[in-house]
Amino acid sequence: MTDWLPVRTADGSWTLAHPLHGETCHSTAGAWQQALERYARPCRLRERALSGARELRLLDIGTGLGLNLAAALSELDGTGCTLIAESFEADASVLAAMRELVAREGSLDPRAEAWHARVRAALDGADDPGLRLRVRLGDARACLPNLAPDWRCDAVFLDPFSPRRDAALWEPGFLACVAARMAAEAWLSTYTVSRPVRRALQAAGLAVHEGPAVGRKRAGTLARFEG
Ligand SMILES: C[S@@+](CC[C@H](N)C(=O)[O-])C[C@H]1O[C@@H](n2cnc3c(N)ncnc32)[C@H](O)[C@@H]1O
Repeated sequence: MTDWLPVRTADGSWTLAHPLHGETCHSTAGAWQQALERYARPCRLRERALSGARELRLLDIGTGLGLNLAAALSELDGTGCTLIAESFEADASVLAAMRELVAREGSLDPRAEAWHARVRAALDGADDPGLRLRVRLGDARACLPNLAPDWRCDAVFLDPFSPRRDAALWEPGFLACVAARMAAEAWLSTYTVSRPVRRALQAAGLAVHEGPAVGRKRAGTLARFEG
């Protein structure tokens, strides 16, 4: 096992804790619950697919174990809509740790496995008509400008470690670059309710809404363009 520490969360799903600062990649109240209820559902992927979208583009900031990606796929299940995901990850060792954890436990969660297996296969380069995944290894601030200039997404999963640990990814300059990649109808979701983060999202032209209560968190933050 690499130095990332496996943590079993309260809904039975596994996540990893960072080798140095110890923050977990998901809420200890439930990793799979958080992936679904904090990210995939509030970004309305299924609703968009059922309204006729044949492709949805996702900007996934902090690939981690790929559990949020699996949740996005689960929301699109049976819709015929393809997920086109650009995912940024600074530390390749988290992906190695995820694979070791899956090898040890059989899955991160049996409920997620059908979709997480597809994420792992896509990471291995397998063809999947329902998933086009590109993981860019590096600092998200450096990866973002490497997307095609006209690339726009339908959803953003903003999931770095906390503003205390990953301060750079919560800075107004970076959030403005993220907002600039959002299509008019896109939703951004994140777990933080930090006022400076919300102000930065507003400064980038987004309207901020309260995200749902998930696990032990009474709210998160949703943002989109309005008007
Ligand atoms: C909270 S975890 C993400 C969990 C992930 N979304 C999932 O579904 O498993 C945060 C991730 O962001 C990554 N990260 C931290 N700083 C980063 C940066 N500057 N650029 C890209 N990724 C970064 C960390 O290595 C970690 O894997």
